[in-house]
Amino acid sequence: MSSWRFIFVQFWRLLLCDKSIHWVEPTDFKEVPSRSHLKCEVMAFSNHSESDLAICIQVESFARKFSFCEKFRRSGHVFFELPLELLDGQIRLTAALQSGDLVLASDQVRVQKWLHLSREIPAWADEFNPLVDWWDSHREGLLTMKHAHYFDLYHRHLQHFRGKKSHLLEIGVASGGSLQMWKAYFGPRLRITGVDCCPFSGMRGELEDHRTSIWIGNQEDPQFWAELIQSVPPFDIIIDDGSHVGRMQLEAFESLWPHLAPGGVYIVEDLMFGYLDMGLHKDALFFKGHTLWVERLKGLMDEMQTGLTADSRLQDSVAAIRGIHIYRHFCIIEKYDLGQGLSGLVHDWAAFQVGAGAAAPALAGVQADSLNPSATTLLRCFFWTSLG
Ligand SMILES: C[S@@+](CC[C@H](N)C(=O)[O-])C[C@H]1O[C@@H](n2cnc3c(N)ncnc32)[C@H](O)[C@@H]1O
Repeated sequence: MSSWRFIFVQFWRLLLCDKSIHWVEPTDFKEVPSRSHLKCEVMAFSNHSESDLAICIQVESFARKFSFCEKFRRSGHVFFELPLELLDGQIRLTAALQSGDLVLASDQVRVQKWLHLSREIPAWADEFNPLVDWWDSHREGLLTMKHAHYFDLYHRHLQHFRGKKSHLLEIGVASGGSLQMWKAYFGPRLRITGVDCCPFSGMRGELEDHRTSIWIGNQEDPQFWAELIQSVPPFDIIIDDGSHVGRMQLEAFESLWPHLAPGGVYIVEDLMFGYLDMGLHKDALFFKGHTLWVERLKGLMDEMQTGLTADSRLQDSVAAIRGIHIYRHFCIIEKYDLGQGLSGLVHDWAAFQVGAGAAAPALAGVQADSLNPSATTLLRCFFWTSLG
């Protein structure tokens, strides 16, 4: 593009930008479980200056269609609840930013979601899950912002920590609702460290007690993590529900993974932010480096298999990855417990790579009992492929 054309385009963009509205959340509505209601949250910001802005939610189900509007300032969350008895089968939620009756720049301000609900108790509340129960009994006060399907995943992967002495770190405290939930779920032997960049998080320290501390810091700052790690015992559970920006998720992981206790788990929520450029939210690319975490996660799968990494900070700890579970918007990385793991195998692996190609025919005669069983299996596999 010639420079004159570039200037001309930028000029028009500046003139027009007052009409553009960006949704911050790429996916939208968050649903929160409850046995009687569907709780939803939608988040947006706008650069419109009208005083009568509202977010209008339209609900369409097989039998019904209704809408309602909530007042809205320039940015923020709108929370609403829909009684389950009004919803049936497939429903469509649409949110639009309006000024009076006027829908603003319709393509950009609408966000839609299809949900599949049944008039019965919804699937995520079907089996006994104390996290869902906690939700049912905490309909006011400090609320947590989690996608509904996370509750099932948390319970599936974390229930063995309940009642045990363990240490949880959550990045992203906000009002502190999730910390309250973790206290209730894991019981009195849980120690909690919350981290948030916002100094008002956790109700300005009101949540802090002998087993809960809140640290103010930026998850992208390795120095901050170094100081924190020096001051507290190793973590058993780490949950990254902070910035959701890929490069920051990556920094936190590289700083913290080596300090996760054996048998611990590392969870990263809201992976969809790593795919902003592929969805409707190309405008939201102000999240610089947004893909870095999801890209690294794919690489970690290879590193888990070989125990080898080029990442200097994970050299000594990558072999401790026991498994990586990827779910929609959510991943969980498990660390081997003490005495578990394949460290012998991993050490052998480097030697196999160097020596096995040349020495393969000779090694084929190695007595199986001179190697540990898993190394033998690996050796056989190697020969099948290299001699085979
Ligand atoms: C989604 S909210 C956390 C919600 C909370 N975990 C819950 O379930 O109720 C995200 C929080 O991350 C914090 N945050 C954003 N960027 C951050 C960063 N770079 N470092 C630390 N915290 C950050 C925000 O201040 C916000 O309170």
